[in-house]
Amino acid sequence: RPRVFSGIQPTADSFHFGNYLGALQHWIRLQDDHDAFYCVVDMHAITVDYDPAALRERTYRSVAQLLALGLDPQRASVFVQSHVPEHAELAWVLNCITGLGEAQRMTQFKDKAARGGLNQASVGLLTYPMLMASDILLYQTQGVPVGEDQRQHLELTRDLAQRFNGRFGETFTVPEPIIIADTAKIVDLQDPTIKMSKSASSPKGIVDVLDDPKSAAKKIRSAVTDSEAEVRFDREEKPGVSNLLTIYSALTGRKVDEIAGQYAGQGYGAFKVDLSEIVADFVGPLRAATMELLDDRAELDRILGEGAARAREVSQATLDAAYDRVGFVRAR
Ligand code: TYM
Repeated sequence: RPRVFSGIQPTADSFHFGNYLGALQHWIRLQDDHDAFYCVVDMHAITVDYDPAALRERTYRSVAQLLALGLDPQRASVFVQSHVPEHAELAWVLNCITGLGEAQRMTQFKDKAARGGLNQASVGLLTYPMLMASDILLYQTQGVPVGEDQRQHLELTRDLAQRFNGRFGETFTVPEPIIIADTAKIVDLQDPTIKMSKSASSPKGIVDVLDDPKSAAKKIRSAVTDSEAEVRFDREEKPGVSNLLTIYSALTGRKVDEIAGQYAGQGYGAFKVDLSEIVADFVGPLRAATMELLDDRAELDRILGEGAARAREVSQATLDAAYDRVGFVRAR
């Protein structure tokens, strides 16, 4: 079975619809016929300002949400990045084959560093993409399901894999991004020119997976559309409506054209009301399910222990080969 790997940061109390539709729904789909490794990347979460107690809580909440959304720890290995020390170890080696200018050119680094000024940015923020490359390459990953915003990091990962293989001998599988165009960029409900994100969006612009159904429905009903009254998919001209159609289609499995046809000539009212109910029904059971999973920390710890053990079987072998190739004397 082909191997897939992906990761998500535990930086908020809830994942949002961008995370779910752009990435997590694909993680869940792929677990059926792939050898899947999914990682809560706590080490990436400390590259910007954070609170340790919140990180600990959010790491558990992240795992509970992944399970509530449908990840099955029998089929997929679910683990926490800091439980598998190989991630930091290989990242060091990759740091040493990455150019400083190459790292500085990453747009996510530039954006995040620009927010607080370069003097406020940590070195960890700069080396973030090499840790991400390490995550992926340790598992000889073939496919990486992510949203559009991770494409550049994936390209760097491919470059580093090829560079390492070229310089030291075949060691890493060169991974392919799995970016599903339809859902790869979910936009802000209030400002459809930007992607939905915790850092840029207002609370009204984001639907959280753990939102209560009433407030989620309200956010959908008050989403910004346009001054026409035609439900039609056109990302350029009608980004707000197209985003709602994307969400509608993803949650129901129905085709965008078919949905647009159903509301032809009716304006946006009925369309928004129906979608608000679909979204409310989707988030409805998730909060209770997540909270129930969170009540049993021992069970979450057990699942994470198993996930990390399976992850280490693969990651140790890859790190061992990489250390050998770069000329490190292996401890005997
Ligand atoms: P993160 O935690 O920001 O986001 C998790 C996933 O959600 C996707 N995503 C979106 N997709 C569509 N529309 C949106 N508005 C939207 N917002 C977020 C992201 O593309 C991502 O797939 N660097 C990664 C985490 C990471 C990782 C990895 C991913 C660390 N190591 C190894 C893959 C493989 C990140 O910060 O994602």
